[in-house]
Amino acid sequence: MASVEPEQDMSAKVVLITGGNAGIGKETAVGLARQGARVLITSRDAQRGSTAVAEIRERSGSDAVEVVALDLADLASVRRCAAEVLDRADRLDVLVDNAGLVMSRRTETADGFETTFGVNHLGHFLLTNLLLDRLRASTPSRVVVVSSDAHKQARNGLDFDDLQSEGSYRPFVVYGKSKLANIYFARELARRLEGTGVTANSLHPGFVASRFARDGDTGFLLQLGVMLARPFAISQAAGARTSVWLASSSDVDGVSGLYFSKCTAAHTSKAGADDEATKRLWAASEELVGS
Ligand SMILES: NC(=O)c1ccc[n+]([C@@H]2O[C@H](COP(=O)([O-])OP(=O)(O)OC[C@H]3O[C@@H](n4cnc5c(N)ncnc54)[C@H](OP(=O)(O)O)[C@@H]3O)[C@@H](O)[C@H]2O)c1
Repeated sequence: MASVEPEQDMSAKVVLITGGNAGIGKETAVGLARQGARVLITSRDAQRGSTAVAEIRERSGSDAVEVVALDLADLASVRRCAAEVLDRADRLDVLVDNAGLVMSRRTETADGFETTFGVNHLGHFLLTNLLLDRLRASTPSRVVVVSSDAHKQARNGLDFDDLQSEGSYRPFVVYGKSKLANIYFARELARRLEGTGVTANSLHPGFVASRFARDGDTGFLLQLGVMLARPFAISQAAGARTSVWLASSSDVDGVSGLYFSKCTAAHTSKAGADDEATKRLWAASEELVGS
């Protein structure tokens, strides 16, 4: 593993972390606030957001931590969040697309998308695109997309005839597809932003002892499986290391379009390197979110 640099100077930098109120996102916020960045976290719940801000401020010793409301399962909320960020921050140096979930049963977002795909990919696709001009104006800047090795569950890639999983719904396959979509998104973003000074990379944080797949979104069997595997999980702080490193380290100055694990470039599945599917997902996502 490459060295992590706690003394990396992020002062004068502005960072936005989706889902920074809990788990890996909250630890990423602590890490970057400690390095001096002004950190905006998002939360879908105001109370959870303000409790997290207080904790991040205390643990990082920085007061420059704020919360912005965001529900990625509602594109109107995504648009409001982007407008709020653009209003509050005149620069954006790093966007960490971190929030994510897995639903044990098929449900739909406010806009009629299957929720796991809608939250993990489509919400972030729109948010990032709405913030792209600010990232371009703040170069060198970075987009960090929290994917997962669970993308390997999507062995046959994405089913472009059924992106909303109406045909069949197997939670971890659908989750794996949404994480494959994260990889495609970062790759295509990197390709489109080549030469602009904005980089985009995706990552696997490790198997992390967070509340992931343990809250109300998931059924008993899924929760049981996660609980049984829990002794093998790493801490949330360890799970945030690759995110913090990709957001701040000079090791990855100018590095773009790659997938990382343990602060090292890693291989995706074969499906993860499919250029045609990468481009096809971008076009389909544009159409779905109307951007
Ligand atoms: N934990 C692991 O082992 C693991 C492994 C590989 C990848 N990952 C990825 O790591 C990322 C963070 O997961 P975690 O382990 O930190 O899980 P977590 O503790 O459950 O945190 C997930 C975060 O996402 C937020 N979120 C969920 N649905 C949202 C929505 N509709 N709109 C906005 N925010 C929403 C949650 O907000 P609330 O507090 O409101 O629920 C929370 O802040 C996810 O993308 C996950 O796929 C995790």
